[in-house]
Amino acid sequence: MTPKRHFETELVFDGDDNCDKYGAVVPPIYQNSLFTFQTWEEIEHAFTDKANSVIYSRGNNPTVTFVEKKLAQLARGEKAKLFGSGMAAVSAGILHFMSQGDHMITIKNTYGPTLSFINSFMKPKMGTEVSYVSGDNVEEFRQAIQPNTKLIYLESPSSVVFSLQDIEAIVDLAKAHNIATIVDNSWATPIYQKPLTFGVDLEVHSCSKYLGGHSDIVAGVLIGSTEILEQIHLREYELLGGKLASVEANLLLRSLRTLSLRMQRHSDSAGKIARYLQQHPKIKTVFYPGLDDFKQATLARKQMTGFSGLLSFQLATENIAEIKRFFNALALFQRGVSWGGHESLIYAPAISCYKEQPIEQLKLMGISLGDMRISVGLEDPQDLIDDLSNALSCVQ
Ligand SMILES: Cc1ncc(COP(=O)(O)O)c(C=O)c1O
Repeated sequence: MTPKRHFETELVFDGDDNCDKYGAVVPPIYQNSLFTFQTWEEIEHAFTDKANSVIYSRGNNPTVTFVEKKLAQLARGEKAKLFGSGMAAVSAGILHFMSQGDHMITIKNTYGPTLSFINSFMKPKMGTEVSYVSGDNVEEFRQAIQPNTKLIYLESPSSVVFSLQDIEAIVDLAKAHNIATIVDNSWATPIYQKPLTFGVDLEVHSCSKYLGGHSDIVAGVLIGSTEILEQIHLREYELLGGKLASVEANLLLRSLRTLSLRMQRHSDSAGKIARYLQQHPKIKTVFYPGLDDFKQATLARKQMTGFSGLLSFQLATENIAEIKRFFNALALFQRGVSWGGHESLIYAPAISCYKEQPIEQLKLMGISLGDMRISVGLEDPQDLIDDLSNALSCVQ
């Protein structure tokens, strides 16, 4: 019997599943659309278990399946399906549990395009209903449940301010009412948080973030039980067609080998930078679940074993000229959307909306002009602190 291995070993070791006939140490990339059979009977047999057969790459492709198995193992799930983007995985997961006229509950600070999908796509097209809660308290979820509630969709930590939901308590509540649960786990990664072990039905990731880790792929994954994933395979996966290309799956496999090491570095550096920013006179607030005085520090330590490298802070000034001066003065932090790659990035949530919305409206949404989100990369943390320090010296 093979002894039980640590997940760091599973992430690196490909030997059990790699049956390449030449013994190639890295599994080959299957760059093909279809697979051929010797006989009528063989094709017929493949169609009796379409969710697991290799027939056409919109369904299964051996390179993609190889990575799916690794991700399922890492998250303690039975099965995973890789998609062409995080949003393809998010929308397939939500559509799987929701039908016309159903109701769902989610949090106000869910990732913007996920909220737009629920609000601007599902609501008008499918007549679905949604209730928003802050997510801070399980009672809010209990009060929002209706007879037609089919899904609770969580993102913990949430976007922008990184507030947490008590995953275990919410799952218990959902199960008692026969409601499905999904958690977007992109921020923590399965290295630091394993929602499936709390009984969540589906875990979703944008693999474009830490799982990919090198800012060179856009991908997504759903992980859960074989039963749910096989149903998703036959409906939302094959019919909507949002599959991942084998070349990108191979890049993801490359990235998973260093995931554990990368996360340690992101986490250590982000902790140092958060503490540096916290004591800086030109910073009003720092939002980072890894800080000792984070408002939900106890819950953070209960359901996560570590903290990733994405955090946000508020500059003390609301003067747009000064805010821009700080933003543009950074040399190592590059200005751009997304996060979770090797490189450090900065983004100001107000950039994409302040031209269309009055400042008062942004405040109601919890966004101020001085809000900055940084993705702490793999550079030396002292160089990153020096860069921030230099840019902050441009603020009065
Ligand atoms: C929390 C979260 N979930 C999902 C997504 C969507 O992922 P993708 O960009 O891969 O479609 C993102 C992207 O930024 C995200 O931040």
